[in-house]
Amino acid sequence: MVKIGIVGVGTVGSAVIENLEKNKELIKARAGKEIKVVKGVVRDTNKPNITIPLTTDYKEVTENPEIDIVVELMGGVDKAYEVVSDALKHKKAVVTANKALLAYHRFELQKLAATPFEYEASVAGGIPVIKALRDGLSANHIMEIKGIINGTCNYILSEMKKGRDYSEVLKEAQEKGYAEADPTFDVGGYDAAHKLLILASIAYNIDAKPEDILIEGIENINLTDIEFAKEFGYEIKLLGIAKKRENKIELRVHPTLIKNSEMISKVEGVMNAVSVIGDVVGETMYYGPGAGGDATASAVISDIIEIARGNKNPMLGYKIPLENEKLSLIDASEIISKYYLRIAVKDELGVLEKISHILAKNNISIESFLQKPRDGYVKLLFSTHKAVEKDIKNAIKEIQNLNFVLKDVNYIRIEE
Ligand code: NAP
Ligand code: HSE
Repeated sequence: MVKIGIVGVGTVGSAVIENLEKNKELIKARAGKEIKVVKGVVRDTNKPNITIPLTTDYKEVTENPEIDIVVELMGGVDKAYEVVSDALKHKKAVVTANKALLAYHRFELQKLAATPFEYEASVAGGIPVIKALRDGLSANHIMEIKGIINGTCNYILSEMKKGRDYSEVLKEAQEKGYAEADPTFDVGGYDAAHKLLILASIAYNIDAKPEDILIEGIENINLTDIEFAKEFGYEIKLLGIAKKRENKIELRVHPTLIKNSEMISKVEGVMNAVSVIGDVVGETMYYGPGAGGDATASAVISDIIEIARGNKNPMLGYKIPLENEKLSLIDASEIISKYYLRIAVKDELGVLEKISHILAKNNISIESFLQKPRDGYVKLLFSTHKAVEKDIKNAIKEIQNLNFVLKDVNYIRIEE
């Protein structure tokens, strides 16, 4: 028998307990052993629907000689690091779904982990993308990863297309158990960045932190952007992107306009999708539910079964250091992309001429243009050919200072 202690019995923790019970016989046959949850750790033990013994002291799990696997499902960074390190010090195998923890501490934890350490649920919920990238694609140099890896944002963007209000849909995503405890992690792009960093460590063995990469969320997307996207044949998605350019890696998370003929543009609601291009296999794509108790529990339980079977995989996929392929991060200002710009201006003579002059001066070539008259002002919508990020940022700063510009200039990168 394999005995489990679960630290954090909330949306995911309770779904793990329920599904271990529901599929008990099947799981026992696949793992080769019975799996039993013996204790749960929470802040408030008054939980009438939870059937396992509860405590508020995590050491009753991490230092319990009876327990084989500690499953960390509490979230957060510092306390979770304390719990997981203590579990590893006490020679427990660890399973976690905590991408924030891994975004900051995955390399330290890899060093500490003499026992198995699995984290399938930390990226894209129920999609087994960690095992696909770390194990299934291990023969490949990874050229590119492009993913919808935050279910909450994809759910919000999908519902906004139906004309629904942003805050109302966010509240719904929280009620359905998709959002993080602090949903600004979702809508601000940080949760997707945490996941992208985990994928990038497996793909490129690169130890970057969230502060090192470009992260933008969906808070500024409005109905005008959605209308523009529709008119020009695009969908707006929050994407995590990793691209290899010679010996450099580009890592970024931001709302992105994608042509509506692309497969990834068709991913709606809480579903996630990750496209991975390998030099041997070509493009592969993974699709499924990215958030929610049951979807995440499916991935957590698969890790528990993997460990119960006696397997120990190299945590980030490398048995020995990769000496000859040292890759570094490309500075965010050097990113090359096409852009969409939204500019609200007074309806005056010479406005377009001044804006096009600033764009041209900053090496930005206009690809298409649309003018939308509104009550007392005009919205100008541009798409550009490929430009360098720092040129776009300089042009936006200059345009923002023109006295006929009424609101903040907004932009979305276009991925083609
Ligand atoms: P949740 O519903 O907020 O549950 C968190 C649980 O952890 C609660 O039982 C809470 O106790 C407990 N907890 C929090 N801080 C604690 C502390 N300091 N000491 C003891 N217990 C503590 O969160 P969740 O949605 O299940 O998410 C858990 C983890 O899974 C997070 O890392 C999240 O990022 C990750 N994840 C979630 C999803 C999803 O769809 N929800 C998907 C993939 C990954 P109380 O109940 O007493 O407050
Ligand atoms: N809050 C996360 C999301 C949970 O919405 O994708 C899954 O990691």
